[in-house]
Amino acid sequence: MLKPSNRAEAHLLEQLDLTRLPRNVAIIMDGNGRWAERRHLPRVAGHRAGVRTAREVIESSARLGIEALTLYAFSVENWRRPQAEVEFLMRLLREYLRKELPVIHKNNIRLLVIGRGSQLPAAVQKDLDDAMKLTGGNTGMKLVVALNYGGRAELVDAFNAILREKREAGAIADGVDEQSISAHLYTAGLPDPDLLVRTSGEMRVSNFLLWQIAYAEIYVTETLWPDFHRVKLLEALIEYQRRERRYGGLGPGAKAARHPSNAPVE
Ligand code: FPP
Repeated sequence: MLKPSNRAEAHLLEQLDLTRLPRNVAIIMDGNGRWAERRHLPRVAGHRAGVRTAREVIESSARLGIEALTLYAFSVENWRRPQAEVEFLMRLLREYLRKELPVIHKNNIRLLVIGRGSQLPAAVQKDLDDAMKLTGGNTGMKLVVALNYGGRAELVDAFNAILREKREAGAIADGVDEQSISAHLYTAGLPDPDLLVRTSGEMRVSNFLLWQIAYAEIYVTETLWPDFHRVKLLEALIEYQRRERRYGGLGPGAKAARHPSNAPVE
């Protein structure tokens, strides 16, 4: 249960219907660099502040009872940043795990990592593996951290995995369907995001969960990631609940026609 720590949070919590929360909230955490620049600080100070916000959002989401929180922490494109910044981000991730893992575990959160993990530095891989093993039996919120993640890379990996399996089974002529693609993504078994949040105002999906966000509600806020405190998370969830989700139809209550394009592909 989330306990409000001020009047603003209490007021927002009253408006939130805890029975209609998104199952999976995905977040593109953007704006650490700009946050630091505005304060005449080095970019890395923005990343440190970003970690503090991540901690707050993770804890708040778990307390609200959200099933999965998916955070875009490092993309396949982020290797193009200056080497010193990349190394700092990797160190920061290890530091975060060292400090926060006991809290994550205590809160019954299960850590999962998506992305091309084998290309991460060996020490980072080991810490992540240990963390996933430690929290593997936890039954609370799933914290899914996207690291060295790219949506197109994920689709390439999924299609190659499907082809490999079909080749081994001698079934190469068989087609694929949506279920089999979903089942070969890094996110297999997780609900698709119902809500995609992007901070710092950019109107892009930046190669994040391209397949999985097909029906997600998109919420873009001007707030820079380090300033995305609990109040901002609650505002995003309330806005999500205000929207009517139609999945391409007319919404609940409307009588659906059976169109050939809705039929499963043979
Ligand atoms: C974007 O800011 C943020 C990132 C590159 C990701 C790093 C995220 C964190 C440090 C948050 C911590 C997360 C976990 C799970 C520990 P930016 O540098 O792109 O900002 P800018 O667009 O203003 O330059």
